[in-house]
Amino acid sequence: MPTNLEDTASTISRRFHTPTPAVAIVGATGAVGVELLQCLERRNFPLSRLRLLASARSAGKTLPFAGQEIAVEELSEASFEGIDLALFSAGSGISKHYADAAVRAGAIVVDNSSAFRMHPEVPLVVPEVNDAALASHRGIIANPNCVAAIATVALAPLHRADPIRRLNIATYQAASGAGAAAMEELRESTAAYLRGESYQPRVLPHPYAFNLFSHNADMDIESGYNGEELKVIAEVRRILGADELPVGITCIRVPVLRAHGMAMTVTFDEAITPEEVRRLYADAPGLRLVDDRAANHFPMPSEASGQEDVLVGRIRKDFGDPTGCSIALFVVGDQLLKGAALNAVQIAEQLLAR
Ligand code: A2P
Repeated sequence: MPTNLEDTASTISRRFHTPTPAVAIVGATGAVGVELLQCLERRNFPLSRLRLLASARSAGKTLPFAGQEIAVEELSEASFEGIDLALFSAGSGISKHYADAAVRAGAIVVDNSSAFRMHPEVPLVVPEVNDAALASHRGIIANPNCVAAIATVALAPLHRADPIRRLNIATYQAASGAGAAAMEELRESTAAYLRGESYQPRVLPHPYAFNLFSHNADMDIESGYNGEELKVIAEVRRILGADELPVGITCIRVPVLRAHGMAMTVTFDEAITPEEVRRLYADAPGLRLVDDRAANHFPMPSEASGQEDVLVGRIRKDFGDPTGCSIALFVVGDQLLKGAALNAVQIAEQLLAR
């Protein structure tokens, strides 16, 4: 984190000075960066100027935005002059190194990395769930882990009605969470497999075609949980405002390009029925019910990909809990949209509306 987040607090603005901010995207050439560009364009974000930043490797390339080709520039500490909003998506190391420079230049940073998510003075925000947290910040807003963002859209309407007492999640996570190179590895290794050729993985630790494996984040040997699982536990608690919520989780990488699935079992104090859950979801923002038992039609990555809404279905009593206080769900959301770029742009829209 910027070592002097506190020192810079008095010098930065917590709101935009202008209704048409100048925007920079850090990591514009990456899987999330490209989606950030498309979200800004699709949602008519009222920007006055757009600066695209990436590594020296990409300097000079162009990316399309609103009918124009915009040149990508090499990121440096001077990149943020005149920038009001900096959307970071180039990994934690880059965020830790450059967010401070952006804040000092007067920008508000929305950071898609895990660098600041647990900092007490950095709001961790899913607009449908806890936009009130945006009222107080010091120039950096954290965009949550993709599983945490997608899961909390589905959990918040239930948690508001009756606080969740226990949560169990098993994830089915797409390649996109590991970046554009991992998506390419899934395509290439699948094509090689179908040609009957061997393929040496370069990005992910195990063969990806027609396979699945435990999430590739670093493993905590003592607890047996990997870094992804530990992030989701901490972030779901923080976003829901439920610091002590017991959460069990298993994160698995599956050969899907860009939408994460998650099977969740949610336990409450009181008995709950699938009908009550459907009622609570009827007007819930950011989600769509896909729950047709007769047609065996439930959320799928192929239908969630490219969609802004999180798909929720398979709503049923959890037969593993004879008290009737637990509900089982299956939730799928586009990792690059609600899990990353869309949520970041929604945060920026909320800041603009303040
Ligand atoms: P580049 O394409 O020039 O390497 P992904 O998550 O899809 O792997 O994308 C990572 C993003 O972070 C890319 O836009 C990448 O730019 C950018 N990036 C990686 N390293 C740096 C760096 N040292 N400075 C600036 N941007 C970087």
